[in-house]
Amino acid sequence: MSEALSPLSDEHLGTPLSGASLGRPRRAVVTGTAGFIGSHLALALLQYGVTVIGVDRRDAGADHIAAANLAVLHDQPGFISITADLLTCAVEPLLLDADAVFHLAGIPGVRPSWGPQFGDYVACNILATQRIMEAATRLRVPRLVVASSSSVYGATGGTPSRETDHPRPASPYAVTKLAEEQLCLAHAARPDCATSVVALRYFTVFGPRQREDMFIHRVLTAALEGRVVRLFGDGNQRRDFTYVTDVVAATIAAATAPAGNSVINVGGGTTTSLNEVIDIARRLTGEPVLVETASTRNGDVPATHADPRTARRLLSWHPHIDLITGMAAQLDWLASHQHAAA
Ligand code: NAD
Ligand code: UGA
Repeated sequence: MSEALSPLSDEHLGTPLSGASLGRPRRAVVTGTAGFIGSHLALALLQYGVTVIGVDRRDAGADHIAAANLAVLHDQPGFISITADLLTCAVEPLLLDADAVFHLAGIPGVRPSWGPQFGDYVACNILATQRIMEAATRLRVPRLVVASSSSVYGATGGTPSRETDHPRPASPYAVTKLAEEQLCLAHAARPDCATSVVALRYFTVFGPRQREDMFIHRVLTAALEGRVVRLFGDGNQRRDFTYVTDVVAATIAAATAPAGNSVINVGGGTTTSLNEVIDIARRLTGEPVLVETASTRNGDVPATHADPRTARRLLSWHPHIDLITGMAAQLDWLASHQHAAA
């Protein structure tokens, strides 16, 4: 019998902004609000009294994941939800009078970016970002925070990645994320540009409402439902897993911090292997985890590891939630969600 760890609910995990700068905008645009991180970010901003214009192309009426993510936002005062595709919609009206734009919309998965879906990655991660940046600079929005990715570093050998390291993206997705952040920074570097940019390189984010394609979601649901989880490789690959409310805190801090035109890692600097994650899932659920081994997927790197010093210096940020505590909260959420769905 395995040692069981007790699940914690999200309310035990402190306020999303604890530990980070409490400065915040008055009116903000959040793109990707029907997504995992965007829905958490929008909720935290609303709870701090910020008016949020949330934009996403997924419609809650037609997409059950969007519906679940947006459900936490709809009764919040100050939330204006717009269903629109950033590739085609008029962007300027969305950004009118905004103090900050948080641009999180995009196509996120590493592995599906090979092959026919690449066009969608280019369109949503690069072309849509160009439209946002053009509108933001024309309207002189003071700050744009863009969601970049640890994947831009590529295969690193496991040593901590610094923002000044030479990026070597190892997947088509990572190439588009590097292009996305550099595109925003190129706009911001023009002498006549009044919009400053902070590009945040998020490191494998987890917590309640995590995307269903991601490993922690899959291993916890496999344990809860007695299903098999497929492990790509030998499980020794390591990730600098970062809890979603910590990511939200860094993101909000980036809107007002004196950190203009910079790139900042959002990861705590602690890495964990997938085999260790499987063990934590087993101990938290008290259930066996059935694993089927499959080949390593193209574009997956052996390790991600953040050097968090820039985030500490520019954002006064450090993470509060460790992997076990955060996985317990995610498990708690999954269990109650399953219960509600039954
Ligand atoms: P997600 O898929 O849950 O959310 C992204 C949202 O963007 C979706 O709801 C999608 O509908 C929306 N979107 C995509 N293209 C759009 C368009 N053209 N117009 C309007 N809406 C559009 O993904 P997530 O995990 O919440 O990731 C959010 C952002 O953070 C992404 O940019 C991703 O690349 C980045 N990121 C995520 C992680 C992670 O671990 N989840 C790590 C690093 C970077
Ligand atoms: C995650 C996000 O999905 C990306 O959007 C983000 O850009 C990236 O983090 C980042 O940090 O920048 P990834 O690290 O691949 O990407 O996160 P997972 O999808 O959770 O995969 C983690 C590891 O688990 C990978 O080695 C993957 O191959 C493995 N995995 C995933 C499995 O073995 N089985 C699965 O079913 C899913």
